[in-house]
Amino acid sequence: MTDRQDPMKGKRRSSQWWGKADKDGFAHRSWMKNQGFPAHLFDGRPVIGIANTFSEFNPCNAHFGKIAEHVKRGVYEAGGFPVEFPVFSNSESQLRPTAMLYRNLASMDVEEAIRGLPMDGVVLLVGCDKTTPALLMGAASCDLPTICVSGGPMLNGHYKNEKIGSGTHIWKFSEAVRAGEMTIEDFMSAEADNSRSAGHCMTMGTASTMASMAESLGMALPHNAAIPAVDSRRYVLAHMSGIRAVEMVIENLRLSKVLTKQAFENAIVTNGAIGGSTNAVVHLLAIAGRVGVDLSLDDWDRLGKDVPCLLNLMPSGEHLMEDFFYAGGLPAIMREIGDYLHKDALTVNGKPVWENVKDAPCWNREVIFPTDKPFKPNGGIAVLRGNLAPGGAIVKPSAASPELMTHTGRAVVFESIEDYKARIDDEALDIDETCIMVLKNCGPKGYPGMAEVGNMGLPPKVLRKGITDMIRISDARMSGTAYGTVILHSAPEAAAGGPLALVRTGDMIEVDVPSRRMHLQVSDDELARRRAAWKPFQNPHERGYSKLYVDTVNQADRGADLDFLVGKSGTPELRESH
Ligand code: FES
Repeated sequence: MTDRQDPMKGKRRSSQWWGKADKDGFAHRSWMKNQGFPAHLFDGRPVIGIANTFSEFNPCNAHFGKIAEHVKRGVYEAGGFPVEFPVFSNSESQLRPTAMLYRNLASMDVEEAIRGLPMDGVVLLVGCDKTTPALLMGAASCDLPTICVSGGPMLNGHYKNEKIGSGTHIWKFSEAVRAGEMTIEDFMSAEADNSRSAGHCMTMGTASTMASMAESLGMALPHNAAIPAVDSRRYVLAHMSGIRAVEMVIENLRLSKVLTKQAFENAIVTNGAIGGSTNAVVHLLAIAGRVGVDLSLDDWDRLGKDVPCLLNLMPSGEHLMEDFFYAGGLPAIMREIGDYLHKDALTVNGKPVWENVKDAPCWNREVIFPTDKPFKPNGGIAVLRGNLAPGGAIVKPSAASPELMTHTGRAVVFESIEDYKARIDDEALDIDETCIMVLKNCGPKGYPGMAEVGNMGLPPKVLRKGITDMIRISDARMSGTAYGTVILHSAPEAAAGGPLALVRTGDMIEVDVPSRRMHLQVSDDELARRRAAWKPFQNPHERGYSKLYVDTVNQADRGADLDFLVGKSGTPELRESH
């Protein structure tokens, strides 16, 4: 790239810091030079911020130092100046009370860092579940040229010559222990077999889903989703993304040109085709809210309804992300569902999405099925409404039991997750497989942070009969690695005064997924009596981020963003710091 080809050289936002021949320019450049950066890097070339969510407390992102190095190689090669900066890393596997509580905090962190620092474009290094939506949300509120690089999934888990998947086998193994079919020693020895390389969860859980969403939204290069974390091709993708970030700055290809309504619709359809996590619903709603795209739960139901599930991956299938990459990865899936896509939606490589995927080969039909002979007839998300969830609740039919899609059962209510844990193993609990388990106070405000506890384990006395699924309803989320007939995100949540708060053990609940209906068979008069007796939820947090979160979080049907974060502020010129 010569200066002649880059007419904006020296006129970009980074030059507001580094292009000045005064005391402020001296200060901004001089302190940077203590890192050994030579003077010519401050000559007005595109500056690429690399937002790094590395943390040893976030094992899924712990290898990001090497990914960042490869991004930098690409940036330098294209004539840019890469500068890495840390972003709060919310670890799904370690952070209490739930990483989701901090998704919005991480989004604020990256938004303010992008806006306050001298960068012209951004590379987002993401991996573990919440880091992808958090960084996309924050970057969307700034709207610089932005590209996503996922850290990639772990290699397949192996236990006693059996393929095992992140999360999915925790649920399977822990139920086997509770049913007396697995020793605790075997259970604990499987830990290392489950997680045997760098990378994020290798099932089609939330991390793999969100990496696929980034790719299908057009925010990442083709194959971003599935290349294993330790495969050398992951480093090539990082390198190419660095090159592309510089080009995007030169082309002024801002994030809002990629994240259009069409892009979100493509992502929803893709989520159906991969049997993606229910968590994608709340995350895409939140990202759309930041970029000003009008996306709703109804879009999820409308667009996902007829999309066949093509991918045979755990939790609803047999294989894992490594197999997905070898079979052709996300481009092969998107080629299959071409009829459902907005083919001309622009992607970060400057091409329409169809251009990227139209010739993508499939190498393994046991992993990626064709549309005319799908793995499951429907992979979309169904949105249920009724007097129990006027704002909507969601269920993933491909992970549920067909015989429970239409069912009326007696409610067994747990007022909190602690109440559930205290009583579920009690042999005297009046419950059988026809009942519907109801969990309250686990939504955005109630938990707080809308924990992944909606897939409550079944009572041992039901498990011993060989039964592995029951209907479960809650205002919580579910891990993307989990499965079952689990109805989630009920809105408004119990703590916000939603009707879920009024359900009592013994009430009859009707679930009719084909009709998209969920109905509490209790009269309006009785519900009014119960509401009059209901005590409004009080925010238990007196200070800090948790107080801010509970006071301002939106309900799940609006993405559970903080109400004052919805929308964007762009990157206006800011006052000098000294
Ligand atoms: Fe990080 Fe699953 S725990 S992706």
